[in-house]
Amino acid sequence: MSNFNLKKPYRHFLDLATLTRGEARDIIDKARALKIIATETGHGKGFIHPDRPLADKSLAMIFEKPSTRTRVSFEMSIHQLGGKAIVLQGNDMQLGRGETVADTAHVLSGFVDAVMLRADSHDSLLDMAAHATVPVINALTDYSHPCQIMADVLTFEEYRGPITGKKIAWSGDGNNVAVSWIHAAVLFDCELTLACPKEFCPPTQVMEWAANNGGKVTLTHDPAQAVEGADCIITDTWISMGDSDIDARIAILAPYQVNRKLMDLSNRDSLFMHCLPAHRGEEVTGEVIDGPRSVIWDEAENRLHAQKSILIWCFGK
Ligand code: CP
Repeated sequence: MSNFNLKKPYRHFLDLATLTRGEARDIIDKARALKIIATETGHGKGFIHPDRPLADKSLAMIFEKPSTRTRVSFEMSIHQLGGKAIVLQGNDMQLGRGETVADTAHVLSGFVDAVMLRADSHDSLLDMAAHATVPVINALTDYSHPCQIMADVLTFEEYRGPITGKKIAWSGDGNNVAVSWIHAAVLFDCELTLACPKEFCPPTQVMEWAANNGGKVTLTHDPAQAVEGADCIITDTWISMGDSDIDARIAILAPYQVNRKLMDLSNRDSLFMHCLPAHRGEEVTGEVIDGPRSVIWDEAENRLHAQKSILIWCFGK
């Protein structure tokens, strides 16, 4: 996606596929450094970065879908960096009554310094970015969820060191989170094997993009094959926001549940990750998600530190 409307060094954060490997690495390293600063001050949740790198910056956060982690982590992030957030529900805006995304982008660009959008449609995000003159951040669309995966990579590396060369396994729906993991596998040069039923595979063009960019990304229909030798197993809810045919989806995805038997086929010290919210007994058993190899609470907290790094990167700082 072009950054043509933006004054350098401002940047949109739309997808991991639009980043260079160096940019992705810098965002992770900066997130780790920001976490250390926040942790070492001992101020806990009341932490404010001593340099206030985003002092006087404002962020409009638009939600067309519900959110817990994304909303709270972004609001706390900009606050702790010295800026201010305005939370907007899509249905409470004129956007929900038919005002165009383009007009909304023009108007918001006059009020705030950045826009974060959780959109029903990825096209809305691209439309916002094409017409805004301030940075636009993808806070989840039907296509991808790049902010989440930056927190996931940060979490993996905290536990297991550099992710490059490691083996990551995905079992379940080849959804928007899986798409961003495919992008991440290319950027961070790790192996990724996805086990998905034929009905819910990731988009073919994303798999082709990975292959054309040197990615070690494999698709199988067999979860046991995917997790063999894996350092981390990841899944996500089978019922994403807006999905229908719930019973049919559950029946098709049932063989892809992450349970102890599947975890035992991976490396002995493999981690379990899930972006949450989770449905225990569906995509993962309670025994796994609440067990000793699960790192979900650190993964959730790391949204805060990853978000700060993404915001700072968008502002070119
Ligand atoms: N993982 C994630 O994006 O969580 P929320 O939907 O609660 O923001």
